[in-house]
This record gives sequence, structure tokens and C-alpha cells, in this order.
Amino acid sequence: MSILKPSILKIARMGHPVLRGVAEPVADPAAPEIRQLVADMVETLEDIGGAGLAAPQVHVPLRLVIFTVPEARVTGQPLDQSQALQVLINPVIEPLGPEKELGWEGCLSVPGLRGAVPRFARIRYRGLDHEGGVVDRSVEGFHARVVQHECDHLDGVLYPQRMEDMRLFSFSEEWQRYPMPLTEETAP
Ligand code: NI
Repeated sequence: MSILKPSILKIARMGHPVLRGVAEPVADPAAPEIRQLVADMVETLEDIGGAGLAAPQVHVPLRLVIFTVPEARVTGQPLDQSQALQVLINPVIEPLGPEKELGWEGCLSVPGLRGAVPRFARIRYRGLDHEGGVVDRSVEGFHARVVQHECDHLDGVLYPQRMEDMRLFSFSEEWQRYPMPLTEETAP
């Protein structure tokens, strides 16, 4: 089975209906068109930079995400493990407790903006990788945040919809110029 040379795909931006729909499960993770999609999404993410990408963001309404957890972003919490590029197909997330943390997020589909978003502090996530292998991890911190952000895309949810304090919504340039600390009670 041959895969064509990977292509850089166009990213859907907020307002496109593909970002509002509920994506369909992937029937066969090993199908050639899924392998091609994964290869193209990896190429796209490497080109544009970012922690993750969900299939609906490249106009494909399927339950498939890719993400990385860079060493530089992990918090030092025991379950906040760095992660090389991971493909996650038909993912299921289970919160491990009610605790939430506030942290900054951006999104390739909401370019040029940053927002502080509450997310479950600890989750277990399960799914299949691109070879059909089972992924089953319990994580926290930034790792947990990235997975929740990407999987939200599969249910038509963008991070601004999760925000509870719109004062913590900023253009990226202003966010860098005028650091906006999160309160001590809510900072990760
Ligand atoms: Ni996103």
C-alpha cells in the first residue's frame, strides 16, 4: 500500500461549518485513506507549528487527532509527560476527578488569539493509534489540556466556547506584550 507524498492541507477557521459539527467515528484506522490523512495532517502541523490538529480542522469530519506534548511545555506534575507525535483515533476522554485548571490556549482555527480556558486537571484517554494499537493513558497538566482541546474539535467545540472569563481573551501580540497573569487560585 503506497502513500502519496504528504500534502500541506488548508486549515478551516472559526465560522466554517466543519468546525461546528460532530465528527464521525473512523471505521478502519488502517484504511489507506486514513493513512494518507494522517501523513497529510503531520505534514501540515509540522509546517504551521502547533501542539495539535484535529481532522475537522482540515475539513475532514472524522474522529481523529494528532498532537505532541513538547518537553518545554510540561508542568513537572508526575502525570504531565512529554509526548512525541501521537495519532489518536476514535478517542474517549474520562475526567479523573472534578478538579479544573485554568491555562492559556491558542488554536490554528482561531488564529492570532489567546484565551484562558478551564480544563479538567487529570484525565484518562483511550483510542487507537494509526497502526490500530490501543492507546490508554492517564495524564494531567499540559498533556491533559492538549488532549481535551483537540478532542473538543471532534464535537464541534472551539476553545472560546469553554472560556468563562472573556477578560482573559487577547490577541497574541498584546498577550505577549502585556502579560496577563492568571490568579493564584486558578493558575496551573
Ligand atoms: Ni484547536
